[in-house]
Amino acid sequence: MAKQVIFLFLMLTCLIFISPTEADYNVVGYGAKPDGATDATPAFLRAWKAACGSARAATIYVPRGRYVLKAVEFRGPCKSRVTVKIDGTLVAPSDYRALGNSGHWILFIQVNMLTVMGGTLDAKGAGYWACKNSGRSCPPGARSITFNWANDIVLSGLTSINSQATHIVINSCKNAAVRNVKTIAPDQSPNTDSIHVQSSNGVTITGSTLQSGDDCISIGPGTTNLYMSNIKCGPGHGISIGSLGREATEDGVQNVTLTNAVFTGSDNGVRIKSWARPTTSFVRNVLFQNIIMKNVKNPIIIDQNYCPNNQGCPRQSSGVKISQVTYRNIQGTSATQKAVTFNCSSSTPCQGVRLQDINLTYMNKAASSSCKNIGGTSSGLLVPQSCL
Ligand SMILES: *[C@@H]1O[C@H](CO)[C@@H](O)[C@H](O)[C@H]1NC(C)=O
Ligand SMILES: *[C@@H]1O[C@H](CO)[C@@H](O)[C@H](O)[C@H]1NC(C)=O
Ligand SMILES: *[C@@H]1O[C@H](CO)[C@@H](O)[C@H](O)[C@H]1NC(C)=O
Repeated sequence: MAKQVIFLFLMLTCLIFISPTEADYNVVGYGAKPDGATDATPAFLRAWKAACGSARAATIYVPRGRYVLKAVEFRGPCKSRVTVKIDGTLVAPSDYRALGNSGHWILFIQVNMLTVMGGTLDAKGAGYWACKNSGRSCPPGARSITFNWANDIVLSGLTSINSQATHIVINSCKNAAVRNVKTIAPDQSPNTDSIHVQSSNGVTITGSTLQSGDDCISIGPGTTNLYMSNIKCGPGHGISIGSLGREATEDGVQNVTLTNAVFTGSDNGVRIKSWARPTTSFVRNVLFQNIIMKNVKNPIIIDQNYCPNNQGCPRQSSGVKISQVTYRNIQGTSATQKAVTFNCSSSTPCQGVRLQDINLTYMNKAASSSCKNIGGTSSGLLVPQSCL
């Protein structure tokens, strides 16, 4: 009997050690030093090359510690699924100019079936913001983590601190899931959007806490089937579809849902914003629901009059066609008298806008609303009164 048990035990041990399901690539094994000083970029690239070329699903592992990374491009396609599991912190070089010109810090490009889990990115953006705020001419600035032309990707449990420009970018991707991420940068840090989505189909963003100096989520041209839920936003500029319609020929935004969100002290809540220029762009089929506003300056806003410096907007009128937008169960406090602002285009009015169960107060009284060039319906409790 005892012999049989031992035999069984040995068999199981062999099974576990001889047939690992994944190949593992530890960056330390490729020469990365977790000392916060040595450039780890070459080691990360060697680990990437090995993992990306693996015929079996591969995991790149980044243990605890601080790893200095320069601007780096992880390029696919890879042979199999790649997971990057990060327990450590990736830090940018201390001189902002080391990243500033490349436009990106960490870039995944043409990689399908990729998972990035955990970890902290510290881009040390303060030096770059100081340059921008000084009015001197500065490099364009680096986005901290970017996915370009990547399909079937997961970004989960990442914390991004003090990006130079946008923290997280999903561009030209299909089926991307962003889960439980956290962004942190000061309220006044310029253009530090938390998450930007553009030219992508089937993106979900869930369970995330976004605190930065620009939009919590900005939604650019060509975004379709975007689902966002359980989002905490603020400080920041809110969740924004746009700016759209800068270009004469531009893809529209279609099928966007935000459900269960809390906005705290942000400049906007849910915003749709377009340039006052002629364009083919549009916004169609959007649902904003189950949202709490806490001291938000513009809780609900459509602004189609964007034209900084009044340049290139000959008729001051936007061609972006906005239709089928629903606002449902949105309550809380506005930091200004006007909680609902619909300022649509005179040449292309907003259509099919629905308000249902809205309760937004300002200084313990009903806030106010204003409507321009808009058609739609309202139902349920409406504080402020609907202007539709
Ligand atoms: C938007 O959603 C509708 C149904 O909800 C679907 O029929 C349509 O194909 C979607 N649009 C795109 C561009 O996927
Ligand atoms: C609207 O919200 C205020 C406070 O935010 C609350 O006191 C009031 O009861 C709400 N109104 C209704 C009809 O629910
Ligand atoms: C709409 O935008 C125009 C142009 O920026 C501005 O003059 C006007 O006051 C705005 N109207 C409302 C109701 O906010």
